[in-house]
Amino acid sequence: MNTILDTPQSLNGISITGVTNSRLSTIDMDNIPFGRIFSDHMLVADCIDGEWQAPEIVPYGALNFTPAMSALNYGQSIFEGMKAYKRPDGAPVFFRIMDNHKRMNLSATRMCMPQIPESIFINGIKTLIELDRQWLPSGDQGALYVRPLLFATDDYIGVKSSDNYKFVVFTCPVGAYYTKPVNLLATKEFVRASVGGTGAAKAAGNYAAAMMPDKMAKSKGYNNILWLDGKDHQYIEECGTMNVFFVIGDTVLTPRLTGTILQGITRNSVLRLLKDNGYKVEERPISIYEIEAAYNEGMLRDAFGTGTAASIAPINKIGFAGKDMQLPDVADRKVSTWLSDTLNGIKYGQITDPYGWMSEA
Ligand SMILES: Cc1ncc(COP(=O)(O)O)c(C=O)c1O
Repeated sequence: MNTILDTPQSLNGISITGVTNSRLSTIDMDNIPFGRIFSDHMLVADCIDGEWQAPEIVPYGALNFTPAMSALNYGQSIFEGMKAYKRPDGAPVFFRIMDNHKRMNLSATRMCMPQIPESIFINGIKTLIELDRQWLPSGDQGALYVRPLLFATDDYIGVKSSDNYKFVVFTCPVGAYYTKPVNLLATKEFVRASVGGTGAAKAAGNYAAAMMPDKMAKSKGYNNILWLDGKDHQYIEECGTMNVFFVIGDTVLTPRLTGTILQGITRNSVLRLLKDNGYKVEERPISIYEIEAAYNEGMLRDAFGTGTAASIAPINKIGFAGKDMQLPDVADRKVSTWLSDTLNGIKYGQITDPYGWMSEA
């Protein structure tokens, strides 16, 4: 049975064409496959010859375009990923949404695309989530995943940046991204990004280029590639959707930002939490051989990924050069367990947020 809605015609200054029948009651919110269920509405705004048009909220659904559309042919397409969480009083709250806005505009600069004004990004997302707030799942890992997307819409064959763009935001109710600790494969065979390239941008093409190596990793029983740098093929970068951290002895290590990896918002939050709570932290180049040596000496105590989708994801094993490095039992991981409890506590309003990370947008 669909729920019949009485949607306002505008909210926070944004015009709304609402669905008449919500799909919500047809969804089993206790069993949501990640990224496959979409809420009722989406936000759409066009940028025409550099001028942003008024955003609108419309029913989630197909867009109209031709095969000549520039984004399809030349890949001018960037996106973001963030989550809205349900506060104990039921209100939707965002985690560091301003940082997602900033990063989207950094991606836009690198890909020669227009900046998205705060009034469209922040007010648009806030309004969309207000309208679809019933789609916010409950549960200890439930959230509404928010996907802002900007792509080139010129119908033009020829390599040049587009004159016209579409900004779309849609949302998915989600639960856990990984249900088990992850297995990563480090390989010298493929490279995700190089200095001067687009690694730090959340550009669609970065993910397309990673698919074949990731598929190879999956065929060997790993979840993802653990990317190594493009020059020396030994310094650890990140994995498909997460930044990575290692605990060697009592030091927490993560690769520094060199322009080849995404400036993860979870990464930045984790660094802040660790530093403010007296952990020894180093942001520096980390060779896969250093990890291998630490493992052989019994000093590799913990390894985990950080990201919006996965939050804090313990790494189970790392494959490299035909051998697996098996990490300790998750129950014995003090650092990632503490981080996971603390970060999730802040996101779900169970722990006071001392940083002003949570906001109603
Ligand atoms: C390639 C890549 N690295 C790292 C991350 C983690 O970034 P964040 O913590 O901002 O989600 C993501 C996810 O957005 C990603 O796609």
